[in-house]
Amino acid sequence: MTNMSRAVQGDVREIYLDYNATTPLAPEVLESIYDALANSWGNPSSSHHQGVKAKSVISTARHWIAKMVGGKDEDIVITSGGTESNALVFNSCIEHYRRLYPKSDQLPHIVTSNLEHDSVMLTVEEMRANGKIELTVVTASHGSGKVSPTSVVSALRPNTIGISIMYANNETGVIQPLQEISHVVKTWSKANCSHQILVHTDAAQAIGKIPVNVNTLSVDYLTIVGHKFYGPRIGALYARQPAKVTPVYPMLFGGGQERNFRPGTENTGMIAGLGKAAELVCKHISDYHEHMKTVRDYLEQQLELAFPGHVTFNGQYAESERIPNTCNVSFKGYNLKGYRIMKRLKWTLASIGSACHSEDLDKPSPILLAIGIPDDLAGNALRLSIGRETSKQDIDIVIADLRAAIATLTDEQDKQ
Ligand SMILES: Cc1ncc(COP(=O)(O)O)c(C=O)c1O
Repeated sequence: MTNMSRAVQGDVREIYLDYNATTPLAPEVLESIYDALANSWGNPSSSHHQGVKAKSVISTARHWIAKMVGGKDEDIVITSGGTESNALVFNSCIEHYRRLYPKSDQLPHIVTSNLEHDSVMLTVEEMRANGKIELTVVTASHGSGKVSPTSVVSALRPNTIGISIMYANNETGVIQPLQEISHVVKTWSKANCSHQILVHTDAAQAIGKIPVNVNTLSVDYLTIVGHKFYGPRIGALYARQPAKVTPVYPMLFGGGQERNFRPGTENTGMIAGLGKAAELVCKHISDYHEHMKTVRDYLEQQLELAFPGHVTFNGQYAESERIPNTCNVSFKGYNLKGYRIMKRLKWTLASIGSACHSEDLDKPSPILLAIGIPDDLAGNALRLSIGRETSKQDIDIVIADLRAAIATLTDEQDKQ
């Protein structure tokens, strides 16, 4: 047991169950960051030996990042994180369209879904508001928590330049049918467009939990976020043969680093850490998957035993698969709002949904509403996300904590 999920604070043990918000750095990652900062501090563009050393650290990291998603080293562009990677995709799509059709007065059209993270949704909404794109937001199906390939294909237009559908949802964990979506989009594109529609997936929540392969998924772009898989807070964008096959147009201009796709002197230490985190995923993904699934399934069993008939699992549908670490549970009862439960928890660190919305405590999660969870249940939801360190003993403590919190809230309600 590491001290990450079970930090001892005074005599109280904390159990961290918010791994979808962020993960701690793996000890190997921390070591590689320290080593790179201490020993490979040269400017990677310098030709002397300090520069060469730093450059080689970056090449090794790029290699592992590419391997982790089944791409080639040259397909990886290192960025500051998921938000930037997502923005780079939309920027590239728009610029590509402008160059393809310089005389057209039709705007490029982008398709996305109502399940996306704000770094996708707010970016495309802003682009639409500024008159840069036409936008269609397809809605997820209520009975599955998934975006159906049919709904994506029916949103396509001859001026559609790109589609962006996340791989796994950060709140419910539901895995989207990306392979099928890519297939139908590409088939439609061949028959109806004079260009190829580009397919992007934000794989922030899938990496490190399930195997991710750009070839199986048939995507042109894929977003990688280090701090969701025990790496540092930088990220990368996979683009299939950038500039040769898949357009990548920079948002920044400068010293030519990252082949000009994302210039700026490289953050060698963090890149080394991202590479090490990717290496760990490459080597241990089946163990991580199995462990998280065992513990998450145990958590759900124990919740059902502790609160018989009073819990429902959001995103648990017979026809949908979930990433192995995510449990989104609603407690049935008037006074059992997710944020109220969270406030009463003594040892458990959880969330009621996306970390980005943590200030809107009283509002039900828009993602749960989008998949058809009724208002009252959506408001009573907690997201419990498991990590590599979480044990069944941790879960027993969490269940005791939840029992106490819910008993207190029920008592308060009875007294009113
Ligand atoms: C699905 C998804 N995409 C993108 C991001 C954005 O990552 P960052 O905030 O590190 O840029 C997150 C982070 O919460 C996420 O969960």
